[in-house]
Amino acid sequence: MPPDTPREALADAVAALGETLRHWRDLGVTELPLAGDWLLSAAEALAAQEKALQGCRRCRLCEGRTTIVFGVGDPRAEFVVIGEGPGADEDAQGIPFVGRAGQLLTKMLEAPGVGFSREEVYISNTVKCRPPGNRNPEADELAACAPMLAAQLAALQPRVILALGSVATQSLLGTRESIGRLRGRVHPYGAAVLVPTFHPAFLLRNPGQEYKRMAWEDLKLARREYDQRRTR
Ligand code: URA
Repeated sequence: MPPDTPREALADAVAALGETLRHWRDLGVTELPLAGDWLLSAAEALAAQEKALQGCRRCRLCEGRTTIVFGVGDPRAEFVVIGEGPGADEDAQGIPFVGRAGQLLTKMLEAPGVGFSREEVYISNTVKCRPPGNRNPEADELAACAPMLAAQLAALQPRVILALGSVATQSLLGTRESIGRLRGRVHPYGAAVLVPTFHPAFLLRNPGQEYKRMAWEDLKLARREYDQRRTR
């Protein structure tokens, strides 16, 4: 339910912020600039984080990367999309989801009943450097990058996180359950909710209508959650 008065809106925002900050603190995020300290806007916090990441050598993915792919979109977005990790096109351009999977993601976001443009959401990945040969990120690589993603989310303060595929969903939720079992519903995530769906690369590899229809249902669910939960 949207708040009735500015006072209630403020109380909700303070509660949500406190909840989110506790969540990130529990994850050990203290190192990178957060917007939640109220000294920085989300845009400033994200810019500072991206700058702090330059030259990162926290894991072996630094060895094969061309560019650190930090994230793209509106820093004020309350709808955040998290994928797995950059592919070859993203590594070359420094922007997430610009290859074939990215083109499908853009169409998924724009689909009827979803209605987002790429520009009005924020898009990033669980790891910021390309895993060689597009393999899945390994556990230690995910662990090395987790504080970066956590700091990004703390700056963005999303109300809805759309997690693409099993790697993003499992690492954000801390579970090994399959995407098939996790998708189709909403998971609490600090002050936000997380909605898992199939990764667009999976949909490209499995072009039948069945998975596409399920993904469309997930995106419409994410949109409904966003419409109920958004504060801006
Ligand atoms: N796949 C991902 O998971 N992320 C990208 O940025 C591109 C493809």
